[in-house]
Amino acid sequence: MRDRNDQNRSGPGFNRRDFLKGSAAAATATAMATQGSEEAAAANLKTNVFAAAAQNVTLNVNGKDHTVKVEPRVTLLHVLRNNLNLTGCKEVDERSADGADTVMIDGKTVLAGSRLAIECEGKKIRTVESLRRGEKVDEVVAGFVKHDAMQCGFCTPGFVVATRAFLDKNPKASLADIQKGLGGNICRCGTYQGITACALEISKGGK
Ligand code: FES
Repeated sequence: MRDRNDQNRSGPGFNRRDFLKGSAAAATATAMATQGSEEAAAANLKTNVFAAAAQNVTLNVNGKDHTVKVEPRVTLLHVLRNNLNLTGCKEVDERSADGADTVMIDGKTVLAGSRLAIECEGKKIRTVESLRRGEKVDEVVAGFVKHDAMQCGFCTPGFVVATRAFLDKNPKASLADIQKGLGGNICRCGTYQGITACALEISKGGK
């Protein structure tokens, strides 16, 4: 009659318990070797690594120069929102996937969350806040209101900036041009119809 140990045997002189013991010993040896090689590599590495220090960066935003002290790793979006209190552009995710952080740099649309602040020195940055001066609002802002092109409003500032920049370059855009030109921005509330109606009215239907 076979006992439990016999049932676990996978071959002559070698059973499941032997196999598990051997595996554990191998794993321990591998971990020790890896740790040893990491320590050896660290010992060989003579260079100390420090975080880059904060430095003064001067940004021209909406026509005014602002000097802020930030680390080189800091994004333009972070500076706009947290240093300059320009909270129009929004952070939705770390990859700027939906364009809610759209700003203009030297007339081109740029995703502020994907651009380091230090890269923007010497350039002209425009945020959605530049499209309103007191009671006077840009026709794109007025058009969004007129065509009810917002619901939660989270995507709206980025869409407004993208629409303004697009129409500046394509003042006679057709519906197809507008849909293609604004295709990089996403509205999770689905207000595309109002947004395209606004842009189409300003472009006079491409005529
Ligand atoms: Fe809500 Fe566009 S209005 S995401």
